[in-house]
Amino acid sequence: MEQKVVLITGCSSGIGLSLAVHLASNPAKAYKVYATMRNLDKKQRLLESVRGLHKDTLDILQMDVTDQQSILDAQRNVSEGRIDILVCNAGVGLMGPLETHSLDTIRAILDVNLLGTIRTIQTFLPDMKKKRHGRILVTGSMGGLQGLPFNEVYCASKFAIEGACESLAILLQHFNIHISLIECGPVNTDFLMNLKRTEPGDKVLEVDAHTRSLYDQYLQHCQSVFQNAAQDTEDIIQVYLEAMEAQTPFLRYYTNRALLPMSSLKLTSMDGSQYIRAMSKLIFSSPGTDAQK
Ligand SMILES: NC(=O)c1ccc[n+]([C@@H]2O[C@H](COP(=O)([O-])OP(=O)(O)OC[C@H]3O[C@@H](n4cnc5c(N)ncnc54)[C@H](OP(=O)(O)O)[C@@H]3O)[C@@H](O)[C@H]2O)c1
Repeated sequence: MEQKVVLITGCSSGIGLSLAVHLASNPAKAYKVYATMRNLDKKQRLLESVRGLHKDTLDILQMDVTDQQSILDAQRNVSEGRIDILVCNAGVGLMGPLETHSLDTIRAILDVNLLGTIRTIQTFLPDMKKKRHGRILVTGSMGGLQGLPFNEVYCASKFAIEGACESLAILLQHFNIHISLIECGPVNTDFLMNLKRTEPGDKVLEVDAHTRSLYDQYLQHCQSVFQNAAQDTEDIIQVYLEAMEAQTPFLRYYTNRALLPMSSLKLTSMDGSQYIRAMSKLIFSSPGTDAQK
């Protein structure tokens, strides 16, 4: 069987790195993986993970999703001249009270998460359309399905990706191209370390005391969620494989079904009130907070 050519963005760490290693290590050499990262100085971690093996199934390419030229260069460096499976995974978080983020920071997040994903799809889509063949997998987030306080910009970027992918899915079925979102809850990666965050002690945190106290509570909630409920990247890879191997993949795959009841409140109460009440209670319900009063 012909090798499937896979290109993955954001492979310096986390989900992208794990997926690249997993596919490149396939015993039947079913995949040729182009693991891309914006900064090739970070390739050591990936190389160590494959321990020098898999030279015939793994290539590492520079690709910054905010730089159109680097996407085109990566495309030119794919020696097979085609991508069967495109994985748009690169992403960055942003946390803190909305009014503390500069517009430049907000633009930078949208540039990676939203425009970066769209640029990447735009680049590889025409060839897939011409061949009437291809799969596009996008690392989505529960933050793209439900709002989270202090994550307004991140959620906006991931909600926007949902809209772009859902819209494309309707069209692309006419080209035998399948697009799927892998909706992740918390995952043990460098994401929390890499995200841009307003620190409680930051001078820029010139917000009222009430917001500051709610933000403190949110940070505690977030820490406990990551400690108690974060999945390992291997769990996420299994869901990726399910989507890659399905004959007719779904638009959405959920990596952690325990998070679905909260999200589905949005469907049972379309005016949004139940979801807002439930999420507020979940995050801000420790004793003595205003949310309980
Ligand atoms: N971890 C979670 O809890 C979680 C939950 C839901 C969704 N997700 C999503 O999962 C995806 C992967 O994140 P992760 O958890 O694996 O975190 P991660 O370890 O921080 O990985 C993020 C990757 O994106 C790359 N990246 C950032 N900006 C880029 C750019 N301009 N061009 C190309 N690559 C860029 C990073 O590269 P550098 O090393 O150069 O920064 C890194 O390789 C993201 O889309 C994220 O939104 C994560």
